[in-house]
Amino acid sequence: MSELGGGAPQKSPTVTLNSGAAIPQLGLGVWQATDSETEGAVAYALGEAGYRHIDTAAAYGNEAGVGRGLATSGVPREDIFLTTKLWNSDQGYQRAFDAFDVSLDKLGVDYVDLYLIHWPLQDRDRLLRTWEALEEIVASGRAKSIGVCNFEPHHLEFLADRGSILPAINQVELHPHLPQHQIRSAAAGLGVAVQSWSPLGGTANAGWGQDSKPNTLLTDPAIAAIAGRHGKSPAQVLIRWHLQNGLIVIPKSAHPERIAQNIDVFDFDLTDVDLAEIGTLDDGARVGLHPDEMNLGAPE
Ligand code: A2P
Repeated sequence: MSELGGGAPQKSPTVTLNSGAAIPQLGLGVWQATDSETEGAVAYALGEAGYRHIDTAAAYGNEAGVGRGLATSGVPREDIFLTTKLWNSDQGYQRAFDAFDVSLDKLGVDYVDLYLIHWPLQDRDRLLRTWEALEEIVASGRAKSIGVCNFEPHHLEFLADRGSILPAINQVELHPHLPQHQIRSAAAGLGVAVQSWSPLGGTANAGWGQDSKPNTLLTDPAIAAIAGRHGKSPAQVLIRWHLQNGLIVIPKSAHPERIAQNIDVFDFDLTDVDLAEIGTLDDGARVGLHPDEMNLGAPE
């Protein structure tokens, strides 16, 4: 922590969302970190490593750990961009308000910077009622921006047609194996920013009872060769690929040395040749489920 007690200075540039809010382009993800790991990771990321953006979700089971990490970091609340997400079982108008209150309580804050619908699910009417609740939450000032996750272009077009407020962000699985060109193009057309989850290719635990899928990007020979040319690590190369593609990126690590390494990416640029080589890794391989097939936890 700095001598002033305000944490290390912010290292990431910001991106302005369609809500007018500025989000640090690089943040810390905490999916699959335990509650106590999360507390340490968040306190370190904010206090020592220069992060100002933390991304959690009700479903991660670590919002309380995020809250404790925020509190011990010494960084003022207003300097932090904090995101959480509404889980599938909480979709619905009243359920969304109730779930939001529970999240604020666990996080120990009176507002979040961004509140996201975690998955679209199959029930369009319920999705729209959920979005109406989020529109009221953002109007009340208790979320500064609202958005969605895992939306295919058809989901985005549905909300753009039927909602009153456009999502500020669509957070989707995105990495060189799954660069999501169609989603990026649909989002760009609407003015919705795209945020990458599992940006390093994910963990071996795919979650949701799926078979494990070992990370293949962090050991990919092409990524390793580019990393060698720049004197950087494969993770740093992957993070720069997201940044140079204009994506908002939230690599997860529970280890201080990796948390620090993952934000030490503002002193080099990938060349056009590097970017083209990484572009050849697109094989459509996913870590998670396809959003059109994901209905886990949907209310009856
Ligand atoms: P860990 O938390 O043990 O550090 P993603 O963000 O794509 O979901 O990927 C996160 C995975 O990559 C986690 O398994 C995380 O493990 C690992 N990871 C994060 N940063 C690095 C890094 N700099 N070097 C190697 N592995 C990393």
